[in-house]
Amino acid sequence: MSSHGSHAMSNQPTIEVAAGSGVCFGVRRALELAEQAIAEGRPVYCLGPLIHNPQEVARLAEKGFRIIQSLDEAAAGTLLIRSHGLQPDVVAEARRRGLRILDATCPLVHRAQSLAAELQDAGYQVIVAGDEAHPEVRAIRGYAPAAIVVGSIEAVRRTDLSARVALVAQTTFSPDEFRRIAAALKSRDLKEVRIVNTICAATVQRQEAAAELAGRVDVMFVIGGRNSANTNRLTDICASRGVPTYHVEHAGEVTAEHLAGRRRIGIAAGASTPQWIIDAVCQRIRDLAE
Ligand code: F3S
Repeated sequence: MSSHGSHAMSNQPTIEVAAGSGVCFGVRRALELAEQAIAEGRPVYCLGPLIHNPQEVARLAEKGFRIIQSLDEAAAGTLLIRSHGLQPDVVAEARRRGLRILDATCPLVHRAQSLAAELQDAGYQVIVAGDEAHPEVRAIRGYAPAAIVVGSIEAVRRTDLSARVALVAQTTFSPDEFRRIAAALKSRDLKEVRIVNTICAATVQRQEAAAELAGRVDVMFVIGGRNSANTNRLTDICASRGVPTYHVEHAGEVTAEHLAGRRRIGIAAGASTPQWIIDAVCQRIRDLAE
């Protein structure tokens, strides 16, 4: 746990950053590959934002990194597959169009994709615990097209299941909800239920550390993109500890009102929040406290 402590003589509040805050190894790897590809001087494209952080996306865009919505927008160059992964048919189409592929699929996402494919091939009805609209889940389904996606145990109860089912998860899925879904499947009268937990430990640890910190500070700031699912979840977890919690994307959103009368400041950050934004928020808090 890193802490930016107060000076003994000053009136500065204490600022503590929850362990595991910010960029996980999968996103860090994707950012490094992006930087390397940009350095080669050829256009680099990514289908959808590389990370759910508008400030970092803007920084990369200045260097020539292009977020596209469709392969039609890509001329010759490199297509970077982001950490969420990409459907194999889209990758094949990109190759056919002459794009060089640089694969930054997180190894843990890759594991979920391979498992889904293998389990489907082995005759299981694959169930993915996750958010159907999330790009990671869409990519996993690209590898196991017959898979069904469930977001809650209610969805499991509504679904017709075959005799042999196998459950995997979106890497950032809630461990509690995963356990509930697994239990619901086991309570059905099926011939075989295989449970393969593909939830990312970095996500779980980040959530636990944020919850623990939220329990002993006066205010929490959770830093991350507004549309970052894992950041929104961190915000919910901290708020549920009963502490005032503010979701901010960048330092400029922290105000003096947020800090009034607060002595112990906690910070957590989502998986796609780069260190420079976390540092800027800490600096902003120190400046406002002066
Ligand atoms: Fe990978 Fe976990 Fe990050 S799945 S992209 S290391 S949150």
